[in-house]
Amino acid sequence: MSHDIGAAYDAAADGWRAGPARMYGRLAEAMADHAPVPLDGARVLDAGAGTGVAGRALRARGAREVVALDLAPGMLPRPPALSTVGDLQRIPFRDGSFDLAAAAFSLNHFADPTPAAIELRRVAGALLATAFAPGWDHPAKEAIDAVMVRRGFDAPDWYRTFKAAGGDGDPGPAELEDLARRAGFAHAEAQVLEVDSGLRSPADLVDWRIGMAHLAPFAATLAPDALAEARAEAEAAVEGMPSLVVAIVVLSAR
Ligand SMILES: C[S@@+](CC[C@H](N)C(=O)[O-])C[C@H]1O[C@@H](n2cnc3c(N)ncnc32)[C@H](O)[C@@H]1O
Repeated sequence: MSHDIGAAYDAAADGWRAGPARMYGRLAEAMADHAPVPLDGARVLDAGAGTGVAGRALRARGAREVVALDLAPGMLPRPPALSTVGDLQRIPFRDGSFDLAAAAFSLNHFADPTPAAIELRRVAGALLATAFAPGWDHPAKEAIDAVMVRRGFDAPDWYRTFKAAGGDGDPGPAELEDLARRAGFAHAEAQVLEVDSGLRSPADLVDWRIGMAHLAPFAATLAPDALAEARAEAEAAVEGMPSLVVAIVVLSAR
């Protein structure tokens, strides 16, 4: 399934930069305030980096060297950032290469994240990770996806598998702490935060949702007129909805 996820994010990269990257940037700022080790001069692996928002937030707080690692080459931050293509389950770095691994919304892509967490422990002395909090939702998700289904969108297999593997839902603080301990971190603390993403208008919500990896490749197949119509219908569907405040779990482990 990793191959399909990597290909989907690769195909979504432009849509992601135009939409979700803004929300994930805010979430990365909130995560970076909970680093488990001093950031001044730290070497950081941005693990499942996407466009590199977590690495940027950590660099702004003093990290010296940030390396972005992701399955999807198209998502990776552009030079002069240091980046490499690779799988979190087989990280292409030596033991202890980093002071901190930051895994922002990447560990949730595994049916069992334990092997990836063990790899992160192997290469880094500490871990900062985020996931969506159990039960967090926003009505725009269902409304916008429904508009796209009416326009011919059919959820790709990897997304159905990913959703089904979620089972009882996203991991809570206790589950993320257990994961960190299983991976070999001696101290683990996780907490739920509510973060204002800054996305408020119907257009913001539509940019966010149609830039996600399950929808962006479909949206890219629509002719400009058809995409404009779909967007207008989606914006009407989310008119009056609350702005996007996201509940996340932040794990700090060392
Ligand atoms: C939800 S995005 C988050 C990206 C970024 N960390 C952020 O906060 O914006 C998840 C990222 O994890 C990457 N990813 C998923 N599975 C991966 C794996 N097995 N190895 C490396 N990266 C992976 C995806 O390609 C995608 O860029």
